[in-house]
Amino acid sequence: MHLLLVAGARPNFMKVAPILRAARAAGHRATLVHTGQHYDHQMSAAFFADLGMPDPEYHLGVGSGSHAAQTARVMESFEPVLLEAGPDWVVVVGDVNSTLACALVASKLVERTGARIAHVEAGLRSGDWRMPEEVNRVLTDRLAHCLLTPSRDAEPNLLAEGIEAARIEFVGNVMIDTLRQQLPQARARRLPAELGLTRGAYVVTTLHRPSNVDDPQSLRAVLEALGRIGERMPVVFPVHPRTRKNAAALGLEPLLARFRLLEPVGYQDMLALTQGAAVVLTDSGGLQEETTALGIPCVTLREQTERPVTVTEGTNRLAPWPLTPDGVEASWAAALTSRDGMARIPEGWDGRAAERIVAALAARTPA
Ligand code: UD1
Repeated sequence: MHLLLVAGARPNFMKVAPILRAARAAGHRATLVHTGQHYDHQMSAAFFADLGMPDPEYHLGVGSGSHAAQTARVMESFEPVLLEAGPDWVVVVGDVNSTLACALVASKLVERTGARIAHVEAGLRSGDWRMPEEVNRVLTDRLAHCLLTPSRDAEPNLLAEGIEAARIEFVGNVMIDTLRQQLPQARARRLPAELGLTRGAYVVTTLHRPSNVDDPQSLRAVLEALGRIGERMPVVFPVHPRTRKNAAALGLEPLLARFRLLEPVGYQDMLALTQGAAVVLTDSGGLQEETTALGIPCVTLREQTERPVTVTEGTNRLAPWPLTPDGVEASWAAALTSRDGMARIPEGWDGRAAERIVAALAARTPA
């Protein structure tokens, strides 16, 4: 079996790494494509280094742009790669523009190449069509021949959209494979000590969703809440390039100055910070899952989550929407006192999802 694995943006790398390793360990061929949607060292190369990922066989170098321009550039440059590589499966992960772009290309060429589409992290739904990720998820799932789900709540979402049960397979959460594998190295990182942080006595925050950082009111509300929290405990804030740019454009940089600001950090440093935090406040999808896997309380700064299992079983809670300084602060306070809650780790978040993904695809590949 030959897998063509697509990675494009930061949250893809930790999902692709274990699949690449598991495929090769099982004697299959695996070829890696990096679309270049993320290209800054700290958004991309730092992750390849931390995760021990080999250089990609193909680098498309598409970079930033409008959604249309970025998606179109991925499509145009991925088409010849797919034709040349001739895999059995195009494996796309998550919900970024690169995910949909490559699935769409593969779908148009399936008769010619015979390469089918596998979507890892299928079936997550926020129900919010204003989110670019929701559009990417729903359309990618519609195109995929094999839908690999990370949690049990994903399958009903797919069935409700008319997707045949035979295409769906529950495999668990591959991101947790990486988390488990990297935890010992993360615990040895010196960044938390260098920042003078005490375990269990600081907040980690990340923000990058357009709904938060492109909207001045929302960005101001979150930064003000974090400022209040910062009077009680240190707030460590690795800043996404988009957030930094918007804060500067909106004149909100003085608010940022209240925090322990960092450039985006690599995978191991982020995990080191997260696993020692009192509470994480974030709009990231990945961090909602990682905090649940680690048993660290999380406040999600979103109107809804496509990862409800992190709320029903894990350590996550949604801040009241629309975000206000009082609402965010109250959620932080509630999360802080919930440390001994009854959270449990969802089924299939056991570090072996990549093996199950490879086995599922091999079983669906004609000899
Ligand atoms: C993308 C994903 C989002 C994911 C996020 C993680 C889509 C639709 N969104 O959002 O789901 O959670 O990645 O970060 O695919 N930039 C840099 N350097 C980089 C990358 C981006 O400076 O290496 C800046 C550019 O100004 C760019 C902006 O960040 O225009 C946004 O980047 P983009 O890839 O369009 O989306 P993200 O907001 O990162």
